[in-house]
Amino acid sequence: MFYDLAAPSWGAPELDAIKRVIDSGFLTMSEYVASFEIAFADYLGLDHAVMVNSGSSANLLAVASLFFRQDRPLQRGDAVIVPAISWATTYHPLQQYGLKMSVVDVDLETLNVDVRQLEAALGPKTRMIVAVSILGNPAALDTMRDFAAKHDLYFMEDNCESLDAELNGQKAGTFGLVNTSSFFFSHHISTIEGGMVATNDTEACHLVRSLRAHGWTRDLPPDSPVFVKRGDDFYEAYRFILPGYNVRPLELSGAIGLQQLKKLPAMTAARRKNLALFQELLGDDERFIIQRENGKSSAFSFPIVLNPAHNPDREKVFRALEKADIGYRIITGGNILRHDVRRFYDYEAVDDLANANTAHDLGFFVGNHPQDLSQQLNRLAEVLDATC
Ligand SMILES: Cc1ncc(COP(=O)(O)O)c(C=O)c1O
Repeated sequence: MFYDLAAPSWGAPELDAIKRVIDSGFLTMSEYVASFEIAFADYLGLDHAVMVNSGSSANLLAVASLFFRQDRPLQRGDAVIVPAISWATTYHPLQQYGLKMSVVDVDLETLNVDVRQLEAALGPKTRMIVAVSILGNPAALDTMRDFAAKHDLYFMEDNCESLDAELNGQKAGTFGLVNTSSFFFSHHISTIEGGMVATNDTEACHLVRSLRAHGWTRDLPPDSPVFVKRGDDFYEAYRFILPGYNVRPLELSGAIGLQQLKKLPAMTAARRKNLALFQELLGDDERFIIQRENGKSSAFSFPIVLNPAHNPDREKVFRALEKADIGYRIITGGNILRHDVRRFYDYEAVDDLANANTAHDLGFFVGNHPQDLSQQLNRLAEVLDATC
């Protein structure tokens, strides 16, 4: 394809890493995963990181861990503030754990939650905010964190789309009590499938370690705040303390992640260079609303909303993009409440979600890759100019 949604970022280091793992004969989660966890926590400047088999699993365990805390655990029926635009598996763990969602509209320019509506979303049962930074652009994470602290709410970051983004010099994915990342193919780093929960909270880390593997104690140190081992190896090998899962990553993914993480700064720099050109080409054109950066975006991809004031015809744009061999997708699924899955949710929309609906009906994104895309972006601008 001339301009695809994503591109591979592997080379010899990843292929060598795969070979080393295969040759070692240890294919299930082991030392490489442990080393990647340490390197990832270090990169974020957090104390702990726990790798899992996807960003969706990271969200599941992050939410689940809050139900098993010793103090003030979340409970079924509690309410959670969420943005109207995010990936489906931001919401599904909330449904699965019986939480009620207070769905807040987004700002049309940043595509992140409109923080002016947080107050209206707050109710007597509200216990948590899930913050999401869409497609590389940091949400108002500082404002949300302060709001959560003021109202004694848990603050979780689903940072699966915005690895390496920054707000006021702080990395996205470090603002929450628990923070998640995805390493799926198209993301900032790719381990085939993969995800991470990162935190400074030792209890949260150990709960996630247990939940990741059957709810057992095997991956906990002897002095864990979650469970004190009794030194009886026979029972400790199969001791279950939580209703957990098996969402462990493959050892291969850990080894690949170590190599990808080394490349991350250069890959983000390349993505940001493309972003600068995208902004130059379309930023001043009032036919298009492009994402206004809040802090430093890591430019996952390039969302465009056709300006409703210009009577746009999105279908015509899609046909032109197809003809030009340019891939496109709806922005992170659009308004989640426009999907049939909502019938399983316990939710309340804080208002009419007008901006999320506009992004749903008039928006789309094109890809960004960690390579030079000047040719592709110039062609995109030509196609849009001729069609809109
Ligand atoms: C905001 C968000 N959360 C969670 C996920 C799930 O990640 P994964 O695809 O690794 O399960 C994604 C996937 O792109 C996402 O965009």
